[in-house]
Amino acid sequence: MATIMDGKALAAEIDMRTANRIQRLADQGITPGLVVILVGKDPASQIYVRNKERRAKKLGIHSIVRNLPETISEKELIKIIQEYNEDPTVHAILVQLPLPEQINEFHVTMAISPTKDVDGFNPFNLGKLLINKTDQTPIACTPQGIMSFFKKYQINLDGKKAVMVGRSTIVGKPMAALLTNANATVTIAHSHTHHLSELTREADILIVAIGVAHYIKAEDVKPGAVVIDVGMDRDSNGKLVGDVDFESVEKKASYITPVPKGVGPMTITTLISQTVTMAEWSSE
Ligand code: GUN
Repeated sequence: MATIMDGKALAAEIDMRTANRIQRLADQGITPGLVVILVGKDPASQIYVRNKERRAKKLGIHSIVRNLPETISEKELIKIIQEYNEDPTVHAILVQLPLPEQINEFHVTMAISPTKDVDGFNPFNLGKLLINKTDQTPIACTPQGIMSFFKKYQINLDGKKAVMVGRSTIVGKPMAALLTNANATVTIAHSHTHHLSELTREADILIVAIGVAHYIKAEDVKPGAVVIDVGMDRDSNGKLVGDVDFESVEKKASYITPVPKGVGPMTITTLISQTVTMAEWSSE
């Protein structure tokens, strides 16, 4: 049976360290400031934003949630972002994705100042990650949270075969760059990939972010693989499940993340910790 990588416990451990760092900043008169911008009323986004807000408040970050109407124009949204770019009490800006149709996500990520881009989605920060020059560079929170699992459970990536299923800017692409920078041999698979199972069965490290409930079964996994499940799906009973069929894969993998209490809590912990890091950078 695989060792279950406990995201809730690791998140609590990292939150304690973050709380100490927040105290040190408070001693210098600095309160880390995070702005979360939510456009419209997407129910899943509202849940994410509420969870982020709760955790930020608990740890003593100054957190502002800015709810904007579904119908806001791209120009108006970018003007609001620019105001926060100029605001010295704000260290981190997050625009919750997805955005309504009239707004171009690329233009929005370009508008967030690279020094306040807590998601690491601005092309300048993504470019620095790609060339492995990540000093003072915010990096996407979910992939960074996954790297924290590897560190905690002492999983060596050097020379390993890693397969990333999913090529999004939020998870797949930055994750592949982090794994490459850690000397893994990385394959990115996606919806156009032929014979996916042949690839996943070769993976020492298998990371799945495709948004299809229980897509990866035991037969798709190499014995002893490390399996990371980024999925947040609903099964036919409405229960929260991952992209990996946990019950069967748990018997074959060496390490596995559960859903819930796996990758999810780590993403929020990383967001808060990175907000604090960005406040520390600005105070140097
Ligand atoms: N939507 C789903 N995940 C994320 C994330 O990590 N950041 C943002 N901004 N939007 C998201």
